[in-house]
Amino acid sequence: MRIITVGGSGTIGRRLVPALRSRGHDVIVAGRTSGDVHVDLASPPTIEAMYREVPAVDAVVSIAAHGALDDFRTLTSEALHANMRAKFFGQAELVLAGQHHCADGASFTLTSGIFADQAWPHVTGGGAISGALHSFVLSAALELGRGMRVNVVSPTMIGDSVDAFGEQFPGMRPVPMNELVDHYVQCVEGDDTGRVIRAYG
Ligand SMILES: NC(=O)c1ccc[n+]([C@@H]2O[C@H](COP(=O)([O-])OP(=O)(O)OC[C@H]3O[C@@H](n4cnc5c(N)ncnc54)[C@H](OP(=O)(O)O)[C@@H]3O)[C@@H](O)[C@H]2O)c1
Repeated sequence: MRIITVGGSGTIGRRLVPALRSRGHDVIVAGRTSGDVHVDLASPPTIEAMYREVPAVDAVVSIAAHGALDDFRTLTSEALHANMRAKFFGQAELVLAGQHHCADGASFTLTSGIFADQAWPHVTGGGAISGALHSFVLSAALELGRGMRVNVVSPTMIGDSVDAFGEQFPGMRPVPMNELVDHYVQCVEGDDTGRVIRAYG
């Protein structure tokens, strides 16, 4: 399959891209400054331009753009909207625009996160983004045409990110990276659609 991975140079991408290539797939890496093709999930015109540059792919995997931490007592709706721009609206746009550019039967695999399901301090925006992605995928899967599929992988903190995030999220049990990579591969190669895959370790 010909696959675009948005964020393929990041922590998950660095492990997922070689796994997909080792299974014989042709993988194109996209990022704002990294990768083979440039795209910014916060900018819908760049998403359209990416699909024009790399048309008719068989799969799109998005592993890019974190939600920012926030403080509920000073949070504003403007800040919430800005936080949702890349990770929620950008990933939604990958599917909304992608349905007109990708090959018949193409799959979209998005990434959310555990805060959709688990309360934690300073992640009101992160939780809202991930919860919205879960709901988006359920309904989008019903209406996508031409045999296309859409799923979302919801990771907890990943084993490879404990050094980066472990202090922010003490006591959170990490998911092993190889387990997470298997979920993305299954989304690309399997038949599932409308699934929220909770990779919570
Ligand atoms: N790591 C974890 O423990 C963890 C846990 C739960 C959920 N997640 C979620 O998994 C996803 C990937 O996480 P990660 O840790 O692999 O991220 P990462 O290491 O920060 O890498 C992010 C990748 O995405 C690209 N990127 C960032 N912002 C972008 C944007 N606006 N448009 C296009 N590309 C963009 C980056 O490249 P450029 O800089 O070139 O754009 C980079 O290749 C994120 O949504 C994250 O919230 C991660």
